[in-house]
Amino acid sequence: MILAEPAAAPLRGELKPPGDKSISHRALILAALAHGRSRVRGLLDSADVHATADACRQLGMTQRLEDGEWVLEGVGARGLQPPEAPLDMGNSGTAMRLLAGVLAAQPFDSELTGDASLSRRPMKRIVAPLSRMGARIETAADGTPPLRISGTPGLRGIDYDSPIASAQVKSSVLLAGLYASGHTTVREPLPSRNHTELMLPAFGVSLHGACGVSGGSRLTGCELRVPADISSAAFLLVAAALVPGSDLLLREVGLNETRDGVVHVLQSMGADLTIHNPRRFGHEPVGDIRIRYTGRLKGVDIPVERVPSLIDELPVILALAAVAEGTTRLRGAAELRVKESDRLAVMAAGLRALGVDLQEYPDGMDVQGSALAQGGAVDGAGDHRCAMSFCVLGQVAGGTVSVSGCEHIDTSYPGFVDDLERVGGRVVEGRRG
Ligand code: S3P
Repeated sequence: MILAEPAAAPLRGELKPPGDKSISHRALILAALAHGRSRVRGLLDSADVHATADACRQLGMTQRLEDGEWVLEGVGARGLQPPEAPLDMGNSGTAMRLLAGVLAAQPFDSELTGDASLSRRPMKRIVAPLSRMGARIETAADGTPPLRISGTPGLRGIDYDSPIASAQVKSSVLLAGLYASGHTTVREPLPSRNHTELMLPAFGVSLHGACGVSGGSRLTGCELRVPADISSAAFLLVAAALVPGSDLLLREVGLNETRDGVVHVLQSMGADLTIHNPRRFGHEPVGDIRIRYTGRLKGVDIPVERVPSLIDELPVILALAAVAEGTTRLRGAAELRVKESDRLAVMAAGLRALGVDLQEYPDGMDVQGSALAQGGAVDGAGDHRCAMSFCVLGQVAGGTVSVSGCEHIDTSYPGFVDDLERVGGRVVEGRRG
């Protein structure tokens, strides 16, 4: 339980949010498949990333921390060892779906399991294309984990038209494609995050077109620097946009154009948000983001084509919409129903409990903004991003917002409460006596 209280003063200061979760998973997996040593700075130290790191260790990679830098000794794509037990992916869909692509092609069997939330999430979306490549993967009857993988060396490359914009699906297929005969290419209805495509060349893999790989490509260890996660930064950006007088600077934030939808939506709602010192960490664009309170933001129609670039930020954008002027409309976001929770349902229930007027749709929501006259009890439902979104909204509620279901915040942002308090937010963990 976290109690979030109306902020008494503006949020001010500067900080670097934790490392990007998507990039951290990929750095670990590609480093394991590489020949030789990789050095990774800024890796996210969170439960989800630990799941991938533990799995890579069980597959043979050695890892050590040297002056804040991870030193990873890869075993080569053909050098993975059979794991001695099922690999536990915890809460992480990315870990499970990406590793499934690698494990499908191995000369040994393996099993991937997860916690209660992950065990409810759809896996047919990767099993279907991987099966077309020749993989043999069994799921539970409804297509959910655990995944029992009968390793199949000699997969066939495919040209895959994905029905959904999902970087996990795309990456799973591309990773399997590194082992398959011929070329493997993925197309998607809208561009999803492209970190896998940007990172493969750093390991010496040439892409085949914009989103394709050739089987048998050799990976070589490299040096990587992980930007701060824009998805974690989003909570602080929204908090600063809400609390009068705030002025925050967030350093080294990843601004990849497949991830920066939240920047555009905040600006279109009227936020004073500026990017400073734009630069690159490898192929990943990075910048410092300054946000200053400018008054009450305005509700907007979120463009459907932007949805993949802000998919993980939608819970906190819906929270912001609840106190903006006018209506915010979201459509084309049915994917939110199959994240760590049904995020549309969880956000709708929590916002209603705080007195917000909204209409839920199968693929979105209309939120009618108003000043929140009250606090209340809301349930983050064990979903890190919903729980943090309610904590942020609590900064401008009419009273204390008590948020239950916060136990998984450390999957993506272990220092969230500390960071929010450090810049002046009022978030109290646990009940006060
Ligand atoms: C991720 C892709 C997205 C995102 C998730 C991380 C990734 O999921 O929601 O938090 O690292 O590839 P989908 O690929 O299912 O859209």
